[in-house]
Amino acid sequence: MSRSAHPAGPRHADVLPEGHYTAPPADLNVLDHKVWAQTVGRGADGVVTVGGVDVKTLAERHGTPAYILDEADFRARARAWRTAFGAEADVFYAGKAFLSRAVVRWLHEEGLNLDVCSGGELATALSAGMPAERIAFHGNNKSSEEIRRAVEAGVGRIVLDSFQEIVRVAHIAQSLGKRQKVQIRITVGVEAHTHEFIATAHEDQKFGIPLAGGQAAEAVRRALQLDGLELIGIHSHIGSQIFDMSGFEVAAHRVVGLLKDIRDEHGVELPEIDLGGGLGIAYTSDDDPREPHEIAKALTEIVSRECDAARLRTPRISVEPGRAIVGPTAFTLYEVGTVKPLEGLRTYVSVDGGMSDNIRTALYDAEYSVALVSRSSSAEPMLARVVGKHCESGDIVVRDAFLPADLAPGDLIAVPATGAYCRSMASNYNHVLRPPVVAVKDGESREIVRRETEEDLLRLDVG
Ligand code: LLP
Repeated sequence: MSRSAHPAGPRHADVLPEGHYTAPPADLNVLDHKVWAQTVGRGADGVVTVGGVDVKTLAERHGTPAYILDEADFRARARAWRTAFGAEADVFYAGKAFLSRAVVRWLHEEGLNLDVCSGGELATALSAGMPAERIAFHGNNKSSEEIRRAVEAGVGRIVLDSFQEIVRVAHIAQSLGKRQKVQIRITVGVEAHTHEFIATAHEDQKFGIPLAGGQAAEAVRRALQLDGLELIGIHSHIGSQIFDMSGFEVAAHRVVGLLKDIRDEHGVELPEIDLGGGLGIAYTSDDDPREPHEIAKALTEIVSRECDAARLRTPRISVEPGRAIVGPTAFTLYEVGTVKPLEGLRTYVSVDGGMSDNIRTALYDAEYSVALVSRSSSAEPMLARVVGKHCESGDIVVRDAFLPADLAPGDLIAVPATGAYCRSMASNYNHVLRPPVVAVKDGESREIVRRETEEDLLRLDVG
């Protein structure tokens, strides 16, 4: 592999263009465990390893690009959430962040429950042996067929999202001779401090039933009257990638307020409250996420304080973290292709994937970090933009990051914190094949989702 320094790339702080970056880190070889999975480290030879396997070996065995997932880290994070909430609460992993059969088995073994939001996620969960009573079924537009399958399977709860769905689930359950446990998802009117596309508790959006104007209270009235339903609680999910706990505090206050109104009107104390997911993770060293035990303490304190004030028995709490469990456990491993310095601007580093394996940068203006992982380097930092191979100028993986100036085609670079909403939102744009998910643990690697092949693509093309 030849390694010549690039001509005249923009390097020095005085000439850097505007962007989302601060000064380059003192040493580009250091890996910050805020954003890298727990077992990631750089060996004495400069090559990065994870789960006891080095990235060059992973690239040889599994190819690039690939999502490399640290299984021990996943299990540790799942366990930390489980332990933090203890026996008095339930943790439902949100499968939309990333779901595969191996993940379902790990969750089952670690004592977590599972939130699914489509027939496909339900099928994956059931086929990997997750007991149906530990599954919650979500979605703002569940089909009758999906509802039927969920009720037949015996899912632990269906989260009702509209007035029409209240009736539909009740009818389907009754026709199957069942009484389905349900929660009602409400919108509490909180503006979560996150990207507009992933905020979900303000009223002007598609999820849930607004608390405002007595609509949630009316939904409860109707659900309590229907024989096919057993209303077990109220659900609120305020958004995603949230650091500030005040939104949860307001949500808990309002949900408990509704529980109190329900008690006063119907003489019923609903036994459960679900506060959704949405806890943020570190994508760059500037982010400071909370630990699960801090979150559990904050949420349980808020709920019991509010319940004491309303003279209600404290309901069983559940939460639905997705990103906070799987996000930090994986990185995407890419091979560097074209390296193009643009004088006075930045150096464009093209990789063998792009917006098809990580749409988050293009969609949410998400920030990521990146590191050279196949070797260490003492070259000076250059301002880089990591871009993909798609026919689209918005095909950006990392908008602004520093990489060593001697970066060359054939080097391996990795983007950390890509465990959540990358493989699960991957596409085949430009007929690019979706990468595998490789689980690494104790010196061994195995594909838990294999790489897509051209045969896979052509199999669907039946015209
Ligand atoms: N529960 C419900 C009802 C949800 O809608 C979601 C996420 C979660 C739990 C899990 O949220 P988490 O803990 O993972 O933040 N594609 C976007 C995120 C969309 C989240 C949708 N719902 C992204 O890449 O940021």
